[in-house]
Amino acid sequence: MAEFHSIKVAELTKETKDTVSVTFDIPEHLQQSFEFIQGQYLTLRKMINGEDIRRSYSLCTSPLENKWKVAIKKIPGGTFSTYANEELKEGDEIELSEPAGSFYVDVDKETSKNYIAFAAGSGITPMLSIIKTHLLSEPNSTFKLFYLNRTVKSIIFKEEIESLKNQFFGRFQVFYFLTKEQRDIPFLNGRFDTEKLNVLTKTFIDIEDTNDCFICGPQEMIFLIRDHLVEAGLDAENIHYELFFSGDSKKDEKHIAEVLEQKVDGTEVTIIDGGKEFHFVMEEDFDNILDGALAAGADLPFACKGGVCSTCKCKVVEGNVEMKINYALVESEVKQNLVLSCQAVPTTEKVVVDFDV
Ligand code: FES
Repeated sequence: MAEFHSIKVAELTKETKDTVSVTFDIPEHLQQSFEFIQGQYLTLRKMINGEDIRRSYSLCTSPLENKWKVAIKKIPGGTFSTYANEELKEGDEIELSEPAGSFYVDVDKETSKNYIAFAAGSGITPMLSIIKTHLLSEPNSTFKLFYLNRTVKSIIFKEEIESLKNQFFGRFQVFYFLTKEQRDIPFLNGRFDTEKLNVLTKTFIDIEDTNDCFICGPQEMIFLIRDHLVEAGLDAENIHYELFFSGDSKKDEKHIAEVLEQKVDGTEVTIIDGGKEFHFVMEEDFDNILDGALAAGADLPFACKGGVCSTCKCKVVEGNVEMKINYALVESEVKQNLVLSCQAVPTTEKVVVDFDV
């Protein structure tokens, strides 16, 4: 079960017109539990209009800073992001779960690696944590950041990025790409597309000399860059990515429709969590085990509910389910019968899932 702690907001800073950064005051007795690795995220929880709303936000600080800070960009119609940008105040308490996530590679003080990173908008938050940590800890490593935004004013953490450029002069390079403002160098105008990526991998990125690549942004951008880099010769294992939100591509829609067709109504579900069993019957209104279980009164871990974060992971020990989408589990995990409960549609009359994995 995800453990949440009530934590005070120490500082709120308006980073851009629609993004606020939130620094948390983690009390000393919890600091050990809140120790984190660069690139990890926190899940924030708040009851808003009677609904238990949870969202995961990447930490933008480095573990070396002993500071817990996230940035929250207001999304049109986004319940949590609107609350954070418009109502949250310094001194307020908010529930936080301990850091989680696997968007990182190990730091090695002796190594001299060349890293590249692609970020769009608020995708900069985990990157900042990753970049600072590697550059501070690995004196011989370098980083190139390709950062996409709408306008100069919408660039989150521009000042901090510029000061990192000075601090790590010669080891850290940044290339800003803008979609809504034209600049003199046409190459820096517009989104990442095949043409741009061709230029990047021919002139700015030496693939043979690149060790790891980090990508954070929307699904389409991530997969475009990933596929391009693999084609250019970078090992897929060295490409690490974190999605902002789940996709709603045509391919997903088709797959989801196929999965929902296999749904069995009235499945008897048994949940094993914390060594205890919880039984319920899936109601017609719900298509996935997590929602069905929460409606029946279970207390289970979840965050994105979009197949991205894996907080809701469990193991199918009896029966069968099909996942609508899965951006979080790798093939070897799926082979071990692990599923994302927020995406797990029961396809047999009885299903038993174990959250103690
Ligand atoms: S809650 Fe994030 S993948 Fe299910």
